Amino acid sequence: MSDVRTVRVELGDRSYPVVVGRGARHELPSLIPNGSRRVAIVTQESIPAVLIPAFAGRDVHRFVIGDGEDHKSLSTIEELMRGFSRAGLTRTDCVVGVGGGLVTDVAGFAAASYHRGIPVAHVATTLLAMVDAAIGGKTGVNIPEGKNLVGAFWQPCAVACDTDALDTLPESESRCGRGEMAKYHFIVREDLSTQSLEERIAACVRIKAEVVAGDERESGRRALLNYGHTLAHAIEVNSGWTIAHGEAVAIGLVFAAHLAHVLGRIDDRRVADHYAVVKDTYGLSTALPKDLDDDALIESMKRDKKALSSLTFVLDSRDGLEVIEGIDEAKIRDALKAHRGYGVSS
Ligand SMILES: NC(=O)c1ccc[n+]([C@@H]2O[C@H](COP(=O)([O-])OP(=O)(O)OC[C@H]3O[C@@H](n4cnc5c(N)ncnc54)[C@H](O)[C@@H]3O)[C@@H](O)[C@H]2O)c1
Repeated sequence: MSDVRTVRVELGDRSYPVVVGRGARHELPSLIPNGSRRVAIVTQESIPAVLIPAFAGRDVHRFVIGDGEDHKSLSTIEELMRGFSRAGLTRTDCVVGVGGGLVTDVAGFAAASYHRGIPVAHVATTLLAMVDAAIGGKTGVNIPEGKNLVGAFWQPCAVACDTDALDTLPESESRCGRGEMAKYHFIVREDLSTQSLEERIAACVRIKAEVVAGDERESGRRALLNYGHTLAHAIEVNSGWTIAHGEAVAIGLVFAAHLAHVLGRIDDRRVADHYAVVKDTYGLSTALPKDLDDDALIESMKRDKKALSSLTFVLDSRDGLEVIEGIDEAKIRDALKAHRGYGVSS
């Protein structure tokens, strides 16, 4: 197991290890509390069963939840909690989410709520869950009124980012994870592009761990993890959800670079760096879909839940990323124009 790396999320007495690499899931049984005699595995049908670690000597119960955002719901939580109760789970037992971000969000929230909080650990099986969703303790579900509107901060006791899982991950899901990975290059301003995929996953985990350690409840620096997301959410909504989240983030990252450029915060070279990371390192499209209208995108950005009272973006500068409020709509139109025209010869 020599190629498994460990990154720690430092949160005082709630600190925990994240193990990254091929076969990392096999480390999890030794990382959950010794006192956990029962383990409740929460997973999905489409996730290969081989990704579930063996918890020898413990009483293991498997709970399969549905696929898709409709199943990230309070009724799934109720079903799980009733199942936990029937299985006799106590406050010292452990929930283990084996899946992508949907599973880790649901398993985390179920663990946070059952008996007012029992330990949870995760095996992250999508690239997005490895670099983002499974780390940092944000858990929750959707309600008809909105995505992720109900939830809790509940840190796991350990996370395994087992890259064996990537062998079966569909390409469309891999693209989503790559969009989120790209943002980390700009949060730290270091060139991660030369690293192997596993090194880069570990680097993203380290960066997220540092941000979370400094701002566990998202009152400051953690907002930087939303780099590229303001336009991304508008693209998702206006495309009728036909453009996946990570692909929209990829486009949103280069748009944020254009906006920072229009505002005089970064130079041409830094804009080109954004294209190089998103296109060359992660193989993602940077083009703003032609059928998405600027007016509609701007209206959606005004309604973004991260927009406090005005158009708000995370933007690059010579000193790194910052949250900028009150951006003039005309500047956003200029940036959309620059984005649409970038690289198009006249
Ligand atoms: N808590 C957070 O901080 C945070 C951050 C980002 C996203 N999220 C949440 O994460 C969710 C999206 O997560 P996701 O992109 O991982 O999607 P997902 O969990 O819905 O998984 C996508 C699909 O891939 C399948 N799958 C997962 N691993 C597989 C594997 N190894 N092989 C084959 N199939 C596999 C799943 O069964 C599912 O069908 C959203 O609900 C989002 O809100 C949470």
